[in-house]
Amino acid sequence: TVVYVPRDSAARSVGADEVADAFRARGVEVVRNGSRGMLWLEPFVEVTTPAGRVGYGPVTAPDVDSILAGGPHPLRIGVVDDIPWLARQNRVTFARVGITDPVSPVDYLAHGGLAGLRRALSMAPAEVVAEVTESGLRGRGGAGFPAGIKWQTVLGCDGPLKFVCANADEGDSGTFADRMMLEGDPFALIEGMTIAAHAVGATEGYVYVRSEYPDAVATLRAAIDVARAEGWLGTEILGSSLTFDLHVRVGAGAYICGEETSMLESLEGKRGMVRAKPPIPAIEGLFGKPTVVNNVLTLATVPAILARGPAFYRALGVERSRGTQVFQLGGNTLRGGIVEAAFGLTLGELVHDFGGGTLSGRPVRCVQVGGPLGAYVPTSQFGLPLDYEAFAAAGAMLGHGGVVVFDDRVDLAAQARFAFEFCAEESCGKCTPCRVGAVRGVEVVDRIRAGERREENLVLLEDLCVLMTDGSLCAMGGLTPMPVRSALKLYLQETS
Ligand code: NAI
Ligand code: SF4
Repeated sequence: TVVYVPRDSAARSVGADEVADAFRARGVEVVRNGSRGMLWLEPFVEVTTPAGRVGYGPVTAPDVDSILAGGPHPLRIGVVDDIPWLARQNRVTFARVGITDPVSPVDYLAHGGLAGLRRALSMAPAEVVAEVTESGLRGRGGAGFPAGIKWQTVLGCDGPLKFVCANADEGDSGTFADRMMLEGDPFALIEGMTIAAHAVGATEGYVYVRSEYPDAVATLRAAIDVARAEGWLGTEILGSSLTFDLHVRVGAGAYICGEETSMLESLEGKRGMVRAKPPIPAIEGLFGKPTVVNNVLTLATVPAILARGPAFYRALGVERSRGTQVFQLGGNTLRGGIVEAAFGLTLGELVHDFGGGTLSGRPVRCVQVGGPLGAYVPTSQFGLPLDYEAFAAAGAMLGHGGVVVFDDRVDLAAQARFAFEFCAEESCGKCTPCRVGAVRGVEVVDRIRAGERREENLVLLEDLCVLMTDGSLCAMGGLTPMPVRSALKLYLQETS
């Protein structure tokens, strides 16, 4: 019998280490896997049986003996692959997360690892870029820019020095997929970055990880060491002429360093301030050189696309949103965690069928989709398909796929205020609409909440939102009006 106990920090935060120790103390072989993403069941323990891996959760150290005794158990969830919550998903990016030991090269290869890189290395760089374009893969950091077109821009630049940077500065509240990928299957990111390096002609890569993710940093560093030792990084990768190496850099707690040009400044050792675009990083990026900057999930999806061909990925999804999105369900939800599904699922299906409604048991009032800069979407719009364009048309955005659930007790005016407060706190200060506008926004919302000259202040607020949207240099100031307007609209409906 082998027992799997996650090493993911969500599982560790609720006692997975103690559970693993308890199994080991009884002489049982324990594998520390990533998390399956069913966070309400963590620590989620899996025991190998002839029928497959059987899951139990949430497990505490005193449960260990009764689990090992076998037979019926109150915490027994069943054969993991048959759990409806998981079976209904379409895991492509997260295919190995929770299944393998994240730093075992043997496990990685046994579960399809390196098939994408091997195939990519047999192809010309332009062919690799063409396949990524054909797959329809778009940037999963939030903006949804076509990955292949970005890579084509870098490939088209001359010069011997180019970079591939992975953005793991996952600052959006309610998002945790990058972290779980780094802790659960870091080799997928390493392989994706190596494919990108071959495709655009880069020799060096950086992963910029937020300092709040110490476990992810440690797991990624361990995986890079293994990859170097296995010949998956360095010179003559897998016997080819490709030379590529990777470095990890840890941020220092600024939300704005997730904006790609701030991230590049920070990587160069400077203060994290936004750069004006153009030039875009694809042409003048890190140290002024052509640079691919992609989110962790974008890069970690590339190996599967190369291994299985672009048509398989393109066949999933709807309209211009192809493939799968790794949604992250959080907030007041009964079953929070990772839901990877093809685009096109409705918001209601995600929140009710997967999430099971609220943890409080009260009615769902709304969800905030796409992080702190995303809109509050009421239940009346739960028929919306999860699709970049459908959300944009509804005045919302999918962003990085975070979905935070609120019940009917939410104070939406307080949430509008919070959006401005957050912007005031995290603004890099480079442009006036954001630096000053956010502070003035807090004051105006306070006056509206106090019922002070309400009509006049609502006009002023709308003026401010237009100015911030049109005049801010980056998405921080430019998108703050989205949560403000959507939350206030719902608040005004409630109070009129
Ligand atoms: P953007 O639309 O300016 O750019 C998207 C990407 O496409 C960038 O990498 C840009 O350099 C690239 N690009 C644009 N034109 C190009 C061209 N012709 N050739 C090659 N590359 C090109 O959006 P931005 O400001 O990078 O991101 C905003 C988004 O970030 C928001 O929509 C939000 O969802 C998301 N966001 C994500 C956070 C997270 O924690 N993941 C946090 C905050 C915001
Ligand atoms: Fe900096 Fe805000 Fe301007 Fe972005 S919008 S450049 S965060 S001041």
